[in-house]
Amino acid sequence: MRKVYGVIGFPVEHSLSPVMHNAAFEALGMDCVYEAFEVKGKDLECAIAGAKRLGFGGLNVTIPHKEAVIKFIKPDRVAAEIGAANTIDFKKMKAFNTDAPAAAQALRDSGVDVRQKNALVLGAGGAARAVVYALLKGGASVTIANRTPAKAADLAAYMRAVGDVFGTSLDDLREKVRLADLVVNTTPVGMRWEDRPLVTRDMLGRSQAVFDLVYRPLDTPLLKEAKAAGAKTVDGIAMLARQGALSFELWTGVKPPLDVMERSARDAA
Ligand code: ATR
Repeated sequence: MRKVYGVIGFPVEHSLSPVMHNAAFEALGMDCVYEAFEVKGKDLECAIAGAKRLGFGGLNVTIPHKEAVIKFIKPDRVAAEIGAANTIDFKKMKAFNTDAPAAAQALRDSGVDVRQKNALVLGAGGAARAVVYALLKGGASVTIANRTPAKAADLAAYMRAVGDVFGTSLDDLREKVRLADLVVNTTPVGMRWEDRPLVTRDMLGRSQAVFDLVYRPLDTPLLKEAKAAGAKTVDGIAMLARQGALSFELWTGVKPPLDVMERSARDAA
């Protein structure tokens, strides 16, 4: 019987995951389908139990459920350390985090080495958790700068067991950017074309790298600024495709064609 996979979140209608996973299933000739399901917080536990009972192959979990999901499904060690998960495997009945290894891979594949580098992470929400973890595990020192400084301090305190991390405000951003080898945007700033990026070309230089988790528009205002300054850039689709490929492999045991997944997501972005 055809296996069903999906992503649960709210809102989820614009998710690129169905396009990406269905492209991989088709390329591999697997009789499987991947759909997006809108699930609100109060229904999260029910939806997960329902998907399991219906025999789903696996689920991705996205905004705003990545932190709540580990209350209902036991996280593996990495997801527990991050405090968030984006992948449920019903065979193992475990929740995993493929965002963190995907962030590390996206940087590595773009030729950005983080070992012993200073990284500045903008934002301290769910997306920042996985990125901060990946950067610390990769040997970077991390400064988390957030609009609400208390949240940056809390996340830094949570991650201090993993590595050298500090939380602060968005004040004096120019100086914070100057001290960074790598700037990562995990805030939604840039999703609307009229958004003014938090970091602009006059703050950046050729020796720096800029990674924007926002992938719609693909060429975000921040990435445009980074390119204008001659900085190296890594876009959000690179990370999205890699987290999808890692989830796919967890569920099926098959390594999917990353190029197919990434191209389908880029075409649909
Ligand atoms: P996600 O799961 O995508 O990380 P989130 O948990 O809601 O979403 O976190 C969004 C992050 O972007 C937060 O760090 C938020 O800052 P606050 O903690 O002050 O809310 C940040 N953010 C959202 N809109 C922003 C804006 N216009 N300027 C600066 N930071 C913003």
